[in-house]
Amino acid sequence: MIVLGLESSCDETAAAVVTAEGRILSNVVLSQVEEHAPFGGVVPEIAARAHVTQMDAIVDRAMKEAGISYKDLDGVAATAGPGLIGGVLVGLMTGKSIAAVADVPFVGVNHLEGHALTVRLTDKIEFPYLLLLVSGGHSQILVVEGISKYRRLGTTIDDAVGEAFDKTAKMMDLGFPGGPAVERAAATGDGTRFSLPRPMKGKPGCDFSFSGLKTAVRQALADLGDNVTDQDKADLAASFQVAAVDALLSRVKQSLKIFKTDYPDATNMVIAGGVAANKHLRAELDHMLAKYKLNLVVPPPRLCTDNGAMIAWAGLERLRRGENDSLDLAAKARWPLDPDAEPAPFAGHKA
Ligand code: KG4
Ligand code: ZN
Repeated sequence: MIVLGLESSCDETAAAVVTAEGRILSNVVLSQVEEHAPFGGVVPEIAARAHVTQMDAIVDRAMKEAGISYKDLDGVAATAGPGLIGGVLVGLMTGKSIAAVADVPFVGVNHLEGHALTVRLTDKIEFPYLLLLVSGGHSQILVVEGISKYRRLGTTIDDAVGEAFDKTAKMMDLGFPGGPAVERAAATGDGTRFSLPRPMKGKPGCDFSFSGLKTAVRQALADLGDNVTDQDKADLAASFQVAAVDALLSRVKQSLKIFKTDYPDATNMVIAGGVAANKHLRAELDHMLAKYKLNLVVPPPRLCTDNGAMIAWAGLERLRRGENDSLDLAAKARWPLDPDAEPAPFAGHKA
């Protein structure tokens, strides 16, 4: 089985060809970093236009690199949400058109499910597993019980952790996207210099909050006055990274109690989404999990950030169960993985 996967829900225009055995025949990702960099964040209208301009060429490249023609495809998958709706529509319409012309089944993939299942493409792990899904738009802890079967244990009540990384970078002019820039700056900084809050730590439940941490970074920067040195920035970046990871881990710890009780035979925990590329997070989580006798499984960084291979794979997982979607499937700006989860307090706008 060979599937073409398209991704366009945020600021990456991506297409990939993946086989049911988990071979990635091509994985082309065009980042719009330069278009959005002057604004220090993703501008939806600019993103949508860039997807329209680039998608055809990216698909063409993915097919050429895979060395296959459209008649070799067994299905087409495209992100149908959640995300910036203008961009989602571009990939979704392109995917449906290719599926119609090639006369193969179409699958509309939940972008978050793409992140959640990537680890089964790279590491072939079995259900259930505990998932920390951390990206620019989402911070959630879920139990992945099966395909399309998710139990959400926690979510953010305000900002996503990736957004906190991006804003911290923006405040200090470290560059965009912020996550890698903060991590780079933090490498030469003293993470103990600034004492920043660990939102929600010690509170019951598994929900996150990051807006207070963001505000604390802004305040610390203001306290430094006008002559902020590169060392000040490195120290603040490091202090932020330590606090953000500590806040994440305090919530993961809560979720582990539930996971170990309700799924005693499970052996794996997974991190996915762009923030999973962060080395400090990986190291600290790895260290913590040893106590719980769980393995930490993390896809390689290029498959943690948005890409087409994760969408092709999630499509494959559904296709081989005999599932597909009709060509009138609608794009969704919001699409929670666990529809039964309570909306996060004060955060009805988050998927
Ligand atoms: O999954 P992703 O590519 O897009 C979304 O679906 O949001 O995640 C992008 C997010 C951005 O906020 C980016 O700053 C963050 O992931 N990120 C990182 C790192 N690399 C990317 N955050 C922390 N450390 C990193 N090394
Ligand atoms: Zn993503």
